[in-house]
Amino acid sequence: MGLYSPTMQRYLELIENELEDAMPSVFVKQKTVCEAMRYACAAGGKRLRPMLVLSFAALCGGDVHAAVPYACAMEMIHCYSLVHDDLPCMDNSLLRRGRPSTFAEYGEDMALLAGDGLLTRAFEWGLNADNVALVGECKAVRALRLLADAAGIYGMVGGQTIDLESEGQAIDLATLQELQEGKTGALLQASCEMGAVLGGGGEEQQKAAATFGAALGRAFQIVDDILDVTASEEQLGKPVGADEDNEKVTYVSLLGLDGAKALADEQTAKALEALGVFGEQAEELRVLTKALLTRNA
Ligand code: IPE
Ligand code: IPE
Ligand code: MG
Ligand code: MG
Ligand code: MG
Repeated sequence: MGLYSPTMQRYLELIENELEDAMPSVFVKQKTVCEAMRYACAAGGKRLRPMLVLSFAALCGGDVHAAVPYACAMEMIHCYSLVHDDLPCMDNSLLRRGRPSTFAEYGEDMALLAGDGLLTRAFEWGLNADNVALVGECKAVRALRLLADAAGIYGMVGGQTIDLESEGQAIDLATLQELQEGKTGALLQASCEMGAVLGGGGEEQQKAAATFGAALGRAFQIVDDILDVTASEEQLGKPVGADEDNEKVTYVSLLGLDGAKALADEQTAKALEALGVFGEQAEELRVLTKALLTRNA
């Protein structure tokens, strides 16, 4: 994708291999749902959330390999959120990561179940005895608690609720921010925090990871809103103009393109500032943070 440094490219390989291992066998009676889960998690996404888990684990001096199962648990939650986000009852989107969305390929029933399967699989994987042994029970519990909180009603699910209930409504910037912090910010922030916890970071490092993740999350969703207006479908691999079609209030509809860009710049600067405590070592993450601002997908 051009976003990642050579070190991060190696992390990407670890993530892709682990996700492949973590997906259920399709040679079973439950074949259809297992295939749909594999389809939803297959390569094509940026893998930003697991990349953040591993990057923070490394920054805090931890064993990157031990954190990989937890990074992948996070990506499973993200993929499930996309499967459900695309359903006709939500954003009704036929295209995801350059191919038919999971419901378009497998039907609504199987997409719903594949999402449920991925959500559950994330915790099964994180609780798998071999994976727990890699990080120790204490870190495993803390990491999965962060994941659960971020995925749930006060995190992603909550944000998606506000997002849907706000369609066609004239919501203000404060409500949009609350919505965004839930639907997108929660998982991105938790990814950074999980990495810091798994890597054995101290209190200051954990706090910095949380601050970074929150600011990056804001910038990330603003850019997502901008791309929905400015990018092409080929570039994005998902429909463009979807927010307007669904009557969503976005950063672009509220602040205009320039206003949205200025806010994304501001939040990126905040994220970069939070990396200060990590010194020189965070250089690759700085580069990634800036690259995400000008990404084209
Ligand atoms: C899309 O997330 C949904 C949002 C939270 C904006 P990504 O842009 O990270 O999607 P993938 O994983 O790269 O496909
Ligand atoms: C979705 O936000 C966020 C989650 C899936 C939790 P969007 O609806 O803006 O994401 P895209 O644009 O469809 O990827
Ligand atoms: Mg949505
Ligand atoms: Mg959507
Ligand atoms: Mg979007």
